[in-house]
Amino acid sequence: MKYIAYKENTLLCEDVPLSELAEEYGTPLYVYSKNQIIEQYRYFNNALGDPRHRVCYALKANANHHILKLLANEGAGADVVSAGELFLALKAGFSPAVTVFAGVGKREDEIEYALKQNIFSFNVESVSELHTISRVALRCGTKARISLRINPDIDAQSHPYITTGLLSTKFGIEASKALEVYAYAATLSSLELVGVHTHIGSQITRVEPFIATANYITGLVGKLRETGIHLSHIDFGGGFGVQYVNAVEHEAIKQEENPNSTVPTPAEFLGAVLPILQTTGCAVWIEPGRSLIADAGVLITRVISVKENTNKKFVIVDAGMNDLIRPSLYQAYHQIVPLSISTYESEKVDVVGPICENTDFFARERMLSKTNAGDCLAIMTTGAYGFVLSSNYNGRLRPAEILVNGDRVRIIRPRQLMGELE
Ligand SMILES: Cc1ncc(COP(=O)(O)O)c(C=O)c1O
Repeated sequence: MKYIAYKENTLLCEDVPLSELAEEYGTPLYVYSKNQIIEQYRYFNNALGDPRHRVCYALKANANHHILKLLANEGAGADVVSAGELFLALKAGFSPAVTVFAGVGKREDEIEYALKQNIFSFNVESVSELHTISRVALRCGTKARISLRINPDIDAQSHPYITTGLLSTKFGIEASKALEVYAYAATLSSLELVGVHTHIGSQITRVEPFIATANYITGLVGKLRETGIHLSHIDFGGGFGVQYVNAVEHEAIKQEENPNSTVPTPAEFLGAVLPILQTTGCAVWIEPGRSLIADAGVLITRVISVKENTNKKFVIVDAGMNDLIRPSLYQAYHQIVPLSISTYESEKVDVVGPICENTDFFARERMLSKTNAGDCLAIMTTGAYGFVLSSNYNGRLRPAEILVNGDRVRIIRPRQLMGELE
């Protein structure tokens, strides 16, 4: 079910009109649907089937404490990439026994902290990191459980900035060296080899790269067995794409005719790879971030003014690239719609923020419902990689975050105050 949708001419989050939230809490404002988050987590969990399998939420997508608590209470595991994220995960109630630590540059103090917390496993990115983890484990008088992150050189067919499974990227151990590095890791007494990890990119909208990766990993697990290395765990990463276009529908809103607009559902993604991975007998863990949370969030912004040049019209809004950087960073598309439909007329505009950068935009040359100063707009599908990437650039205050549950509204992060700027 979609929890952010129009009811007649009003855009609601669950039972609450978003225009009421804009009035009461101001803009820019992130709003999330609690039931959408829970439903999406359960959907993933059910799609995984086997109780040994596990959904580890990738905290980098959205690390709001209250959202983390929701997922921890549901029994999700955590995928963290820093000591800070591990701290946030533990504080929210995630169990270290279902926490994995990824990241291409882990510092010794971070490794030590994670070892002391007794996390399930480190996803190791290089031989030099093997040495570091081994050294820290020896110093702490303990053994570190590890999986090797293998870079299978498979093109995720996503934006180059979020492609991580090609040899030209900094991620993982190259596939051609995998057997050799596993053999070496097996000789290090302070390490316990538990599994294999891969994560080939984000916002992947086709099943084929995942199928190729699953076949590769399955083959690797088999070859390792022949050499006497028996893995019990496959961490298949995240990256499952979401549908950014046509996120909401209304007869007054022009739908995008985009051939890539239909993204497989999580069940379709998992249905394509699980049967392959399960032939290994290993437990399969996944690390979704975006696909768990993106749809559950929306960024509300108010139109400051509309400016018309000779050949262009700009809708200038009060959110900027400091609040949502995805369009500036990788030309990401987000649907933009009015909170209240008052016209069936639309016009071609650029939607831009107030920041002194030409990259401060949310849409370019986009057909948008005709809008005036003072109107509020929703930038859709912003639950993931939204607030978490926000900054104080240009001395702008970070926006508030609101969680909606039915008709109940809770501030889960107050708007930053001027006095908090440093
Ligand atoms: C190692 C790892 N796991 C999981 C994720 C989550 O990816 P997504 O949000 O696309 O599901 C990322 C994202 O960069 C990642 O680097």
